Amino acid sequence: MAEASQVYFNPWDPEFRANPYPHYAALYNGAPSKLTFGPVTLALVGRYGDVTAVLRDHEHFSSVGPPPPPTAYQGRFVGASNMLGSDPPRHSRLRRLVSRDFTPRRIRELEPHIRQIASDLLDQVEAKGEFELMADFANVLPVKVIAHMLGVPPELNATFKKWSDTLIEGGNNTPGQPPRPQVIAAVDAIGDYFTTEIERRRKNPGSDLVSALVAAHDEGEVLSSADLLSFVTLLLVAGNETTTNLIGNGMLALGRNPEQFEMLKRTPELLPRAIEEMLRYEGPVQSTARFPKAPVELGGTTIPAGAITLVIIAAANRDPAQFKDPDRFDITRDPNEHVAFGEGIHFCIGAPLARMEATVAFEAMLARFPRLNLKDQAMKTTYKGSYFLRGIESLPMAIN
Ligand code: HEM
Repeated sequence: MAEASQVYFNPWDPEFRANPYPHYAALYNGAPSKLTFGPVTLALVGRYGDVTAVLRDHEHFSSVGPPPPPTAYQGRFVGASNMLGSDPPRHSRLRRLVSRDFTPRRIRELEPHIRQIASDLLDQVEAKGEFELMADFANVLPVKVIAHMLGVPPELNATFKKWSDTLIEGGNNTPGQPPRPQVIAAVDAIGDYFTTEIERRRKNPGSDLVSALVAAHDEGEVLSSADLLSFVTLLLVAGNETTTNLIGNGMLALGRNPEQFEMLKRTPELLPRAIEEMLRYEGPVQSTARFPKAPVELGGTTIPAGAITLVIIAAANRDPAQFKDPDRFDITRDPNEHVAFGEGIHFCIGAPLARMEATVAFEAMLARFPRLNLKDQAMKTTYKGSYFLRGIESLPMAIN
């Protein structure tokens, strides 16, 4: 997409997407870079200090983006906004509606359920005698957990995952390109499914998240029907693809750093720190975006109002000014103040859940298969299509 001085940034270039990290080096050397494409200005923010400053400064950097382009297909979601894409005071109200379902205490209550899911999946792997980490485990566990929280019947989990994958894929279109038919179909299917579910919960409320949101909607909260749909869809997508990729990217990092993997096997109490290092080293979210309400000074440059400001979390997590030897995967790293879950008022509401799922996942896999390793250390990994949500397609494992 663009080259400006020594900065190369092109999320639609498969080679860039396969390994964006070397391209981030140029971002550490000076003020945030500005690239222009016709009427659009893109500001690239990669230094740790700048990334944290932008994420904390919701007064100047809005989360409300421009309206969707005319080519976007929105189905039942027309006019919707969710907490990720809103500013205070609306953001605070929306976040409050679900915050009690994501407290560390509430998440601890889910632990036995998550352990059971992990154990059942590994039973199937053991019976089969072969283990492809993504298809057999990492793609399945998080969607089962979030679907359970949303009160979706287990037989629909695979359909849910497919909808979620298709919506994410839809975000990979180059600007101006019309949506593909399967994306339109997924937007419609998800809109139809939850519209029916919302009606059902209205008549027959349960203790799930959808029922809680329906109750808030009916009590005159700020949610339109489209907002309600958007809220549930956000939880579905944010709640599964990210955690899937934490497990996949984390296992890849362990497998490619055998001395670290051995250390973890010998010293399982290092697991919480290892998970923080997985989040820093190859986090599931590469970048998020903000939109300055007025021209704003940042790190020695002025970003114009409305510029799409890409806040490159994964670059900040490898900034040598913050992390010693940042390209080294070190499961004993301490301190490790990564920003993989963001920072400020939009800090990931699912962080305790994601950490719990990853802990349970790695504990269960290592307990079941003590000799677990990558099948082929040198395997060329292929990444899924999204730049923003980074994750691998498949990872064959050796279990004996
Ligand atoms: C390893 C897994 C995860 C990572 C790396 C991750 C990362 C992030 C990041 C970086 C943000 C902030 C985005 C911004 O400021 O623009 C965020 C927000 C959010 N995440 Fe996560 N996430 C993960 C798992 C989850 C899970 C399991 C859920 C559960 C449903 C979830 C739900 C959300 C929601 C609803 C927001 C919006 C919060 C707000 O706007 O106040 N995430 N996440």
